[in-house]
Amino acid sequence: MFIAFEGLDGSGGTTQISMFEAALAADGRAVCRTREPSDGPVGRLIREQLAGGAVGDAVFGMLFAADRRDHLDRTVLPARARGEVVLTDRYFLSSLAYQSLALGLNRVWAYNAEFPAADAVVMLDLEPGECLRRVEARGGVRDRFETLEQLERISRAYEAAIARCAARGDRIVRIDASGSADQVHQRVRGAVWPSL
Ligand code: TYD
Repeated sequence: MFIAFEGLDGSGGTTQISMFEAALAADGRAVCRTREPSDGPVGRLIREQLAGGAVGDAVFGMLFAADRRDHLDRTVLPARARGEVVLTDRYFLSSLAYQSLALGLNRVWAYNAEFPAADAVVMLDLEPGECLRRVEARGGVRDRFETLEQLERISRAYEAAIARCAARGDRIVRIDASGSADQVHQRVRGAVWPSL
């Protein structure tokens, strides 16, 4: 089982993946929890560039795809072959949403055409304004995507990307990400656990 968590910055993906990972571990399941950008060489380059780099939008689109290939080959596919439940914090739906703003959906779709769909995508739905409040509350440096206007644009781009993925049969589970972390966790569990 390969599950991707998706959502806007501030929608709670990292918290929810941690809680889901803990629940699986408590149930005695072998889990591989991972993320994109990955912790591999291309992922590190991306994080550096996100924090303030010189590369352009097209290069970003390609770097995310290169990192995804590397992440699949070195982490996701081997763990899945070992029978582990793989949880990734972001996968190609993030590229289809974020990078399509500058590059258009068709071009980003082409960059990502070779990647296998996750068995389920948990999409954490939260209003951009609420996402921004959460990002501000946790402090730290905002990345280039974290203004209200940008989050609203990314939210619309997610909708377009989800429609396209759902049309080809990808399993995308929409979760209301408002309320407490625990409430959201219960919703995620209720939606995903039965198919594990
Ligand atoms: P994020 O999960 O927010 O990382 P962090 O743990 O550092 O908060 O991911 C970093 C940013 O990268 C986030 O704003 C979304 C963006 N991103 C893309 O633009 N395209 C992609 O394909 C991926 C995976 C992430």
